[in-house]
Amino acid sequence: MSRVGDIPHYPFSFRGDALASELARFVVEEPVTRVVTNAGARGWLVTGYAAAREALKDPRLSRSLIADPDMPQEDSSAPPLSVVGTMTMLRRAGLRDEAVKGMGPRQTHVSLERVRDIADTLLTTMKAKAKAKAKTDENENGNGNGNADESAEPGDLVADFALPWASHVTCELLGLPIEAAPELAGWFRLLSTGGMAEENLFADWTKALSRFDDWMTGIGTEGLLGRLALLNRSSCHPLSHQELVEIALFLFVSGLGNPAGFLALCGLVLAREPELAARLRREPRALPGALEELYRWSVMLGDSIARIAREDAEIGGVTVRAGELVLISIDAANRDPAVFDYPERLDIDRRPSTPHLRFGQGRHFCPAAALNRAQTEVALRALLDTVPGLRLAVAPDRIRWRQDHAVLLPEAIPVRW
Ligand code: HEM
Repeated sequence: MSRVGDIPHYPFSFRGDALASELARFVVEEPVTRVVTNAGARGWLVTGYAAAREALKDPRLSRSLIADPDMPQEDSSAPPLSVVGTMTMLRRAGLRDEAVKGMGPRQTHVSLERVRDIADTLLTTMKAKAKAKAKTDENENGNGNGNADESAEPGDLVADFALPWASHVTCELLGLPIEAAPELAGWFRLLSTGGMAEENLFADWTKALSRFDDWMTGIGTEGLLGRLALLNRSSCHPLSHQELVEIALFLFVSGLGNPAGFLALCGLVLAREPELAARLRREPRALPGALEELYRWSVMLGDSIARIAREDAEIGGVTVRAGELVLISIDAANRDPAVFDYPERLDIDRRPSTPHLRFGQGRHFCPAAALNRAQTEVALRALLDTVPGLRLAVAPDRIRWRQDHAVLLPEAIPVRW
């Protein structure tokens, strides 16, 4: 663990296959503890479940103040726009409810049949690509494996499935050009933090804003963004074109980052644990419960949910002073042994009486939670059906994780079937 003086530096790790040992220890020994951030600021890291839930709901802990550059920061190179700006702008124009509805389970922009179709197409393409490559190798070297169903060449659940799936589904949800989806899948770098962000973030966001400027100029009435642009024309406090562009890009990044990271992690688990995959094929009804447990158990965040105390507040028995930074680790809270027995075990039959915090809590609770549940279930069902025999093509400890990103994602998940 790196330290500044006596204080540990947060984040501790970018691995999504295990909770950092520091987090596992703090949850038990010091559920609210001092850390130093990437920006060199001091903050309180909240890891205990009870304290995290309390902090997420506490109105004295402000999310809007994190946008104030005079306040202590989690990262020195923050993106030029944030969730704070997005939700505030939408509220001011009277469009917040419409936006929330458009990310909800009853949105009408992208159906679950379409989500399944997108997943099936990507998986079939992955298989066809591997087959074509194997055939070329066989012709060149005469070393086929002799079994038409066995893949001699691996596919990659990150590049072939999770990233393009999240990009494509989000393009359709928002009404962005579908032809751009493959390219937009590569925009995960917009979620970089730390050293990586210092190098690229500003240039990447500037380039991305310029592409979104073009799309929002020509936006029709399709998708959530088309609907918002249409309603904006009759708003008493209409958003400017630039504001619409910023909201569009922020929503796209929200729809790409967490959904791709989570689907990749689920794919990794199914490829690593073929018995679990076999059970979910045999018992389709077990999938929603398994998914809920995966939301709890997953390690997804390379940063935290940040707040600034507006006034002195006691959180988990610690007094946080006005103006101090509070960093809430959902990953750690969901592994608190005081709430979840043997929290490190992925147990798809677990039915905890206490909910996990994966989608937050209180007034900023993720508006896309129910939609993401439904869409991810469909994508995993496609993976189970379309790729029977799915397994990892490398030893689990050979999976490399992207460093310095707010959402954790492996570099690649090589798989065979
Ligand atoms: C695995 C999928 C997802 C996870 C784990 C996730 C997680 C979260 C969390 C923890 C928050 C609360 C942030 C806070 O308290 O400061 C949040 C808020 C939000 N999320 Fe998600 N999210 C997911 C998918 C999505 C998708 C697909 C979209 C949109 C397309 C989205 C849009 C938003 C927005 C706009 C907010 C801000 C809500 C508000 O402040 O009122 N999320 N999300």
